Amino acid sequence: MNSQLFRNARIFTPVDPGKPLAGKEQGSVASFEPGALLCSDGRINWVGHERDLRGALSAEVEEVDCGGRCMVPGFVDPHTHMCFMQPREQEFLSRLEGADYLEILRSGGGILASVEAVRAASEQDLFRATLARARIALSLGTTTMEIKSGYGLALEPELKQLRVIARLGREARLTVVPTFLGCHAVPAEYKGRADEYVDLVARKMIPEVARAGLARSCDVFCEEGVFSVSQARSVLEAARAHGLSIRMHADEIHDTGGAALAASLGAESADHLLAASDQGLRAMAAAGVVGVLLPATAYSMRRPYARAGAMVDLGLPVAIASDCNPGSSCTQSMPFVFGLAVLQMGLSVAEALTASTLNAAYALGLGRERGSLEPGKAADFLLLDGETPGILAFKPGVATVAEVYKAGAMVWPEKNA
Ligand code: NIG
Ligand code: FE
Repeated sequence: MNSQLFRNARIFTPVDPGKPLAGKEQGSVASFEPGALLCSDGRINWVGHERDLRGALSAEVEEVDCGGRCMVPGFVDPHTHMCFMQPREQEFLSRLEGADYLEILRSGGGILASVEAVRAASEQDLFRATLARARIALSLGTTTMEIKSGYGLALEPELKQLRVIARLGREARLTVVPTFLGCHAVPAEYKGRADEYVDLVARKMIPEVARAGLARSCDVFCEEGVFSVSQARSVLEAARAHGLSIRMHADEIHDTGGAALAASLGAESADHLLAASDQGLRAMAAAGVVGVLLPATAYSMRRPYARAGAMVDLGLPVAIASDCNPGSSCTQSMPFVFGLAVLQMGLSVAEALTASTLNAAYALGLGRERGSLEPGKAADFLLLDGETPGILAFKPGVATVAEVYKAGAMVWPEKNA
């Protein structure tokens, strides 16, 4: 058996009660200073105070001295659009000059420009571009990430994206959760015929994607001028009928009732929620839907942040994600997102830790296996150059993630790099 003992660490981990942490429990974090973590064959056997270690030690173990650094679970990024070709930098510059995001999309740019690029790309080039981005995410501490399709918007290019995402899960050293986002925008060839496109997604694309086993979940961009609540409902019901779990881009720019729809469909998560009403948020809390907040998007779009504190008060389990994409949030940095969550959205450090690990894992249906440092879970963890997870918010834009471990093995820095 391959056993390792990581000792002399300041360990901080959410405490998993078997469901996402919500309300006053959102910041339910345990700390062991100095702490130790024992793992075998990639799984955690024991975590606790060093002084309690003796009884836990049995077989021959390899010892690693963590030098007093802070240890936290690897980040789980539960919302990315990482599979794309190039970022839309010129569009960013136009937005800085006042151009409107939804207006750009209506005139055939934005997401639709990224669709043209992905359709034209070879599968190999798309894989290379995505892999490069995922490796940066790994170096910044992401050990599990969701990745959506949504830049194909026709059966073949959507399947191409999903194959790339599946290959990434096999070849990159992180856990990848694939989501089908056929309803990310109405493709140019269906302009003015959104209902027909929705029909195509629900009747043809979802069954094919499900048959190929290439997606775990289905997402829809539910927004004024993109897909309505009733269109989102018909797509998501079809997805559920084909065994996919459900997530939504809900109430990002306008309150269209997306949060309430997510609640009524029993979605795993509803994401963005900048404009969500208290009523919608309450419905989500009652239905156990995780609210995934994307502060780097609000930052890049110069919008007010989602009301994270109010959501915690309403009893909604809150997660945070990068939303990494070529337009509205061009970053895969969870440390940056963590800092925004604390300093701009008002979460405590403990609440942000839960949001970026355990609750994010539950948003992806992986809470039983990942997202906290507890016996039986995967030994995915980070060593931070600091005393507490607060360092992530305190030192913005600085490399605070010193080492990244996946299933007990160091994956960053790379050994031969
Ligand atoms: O979550 N809002 C829709 N989708 C992405 C943006 C994608 C893009 O601009 O390419 C988001 O912000
Ligand atoms: Fe998104």
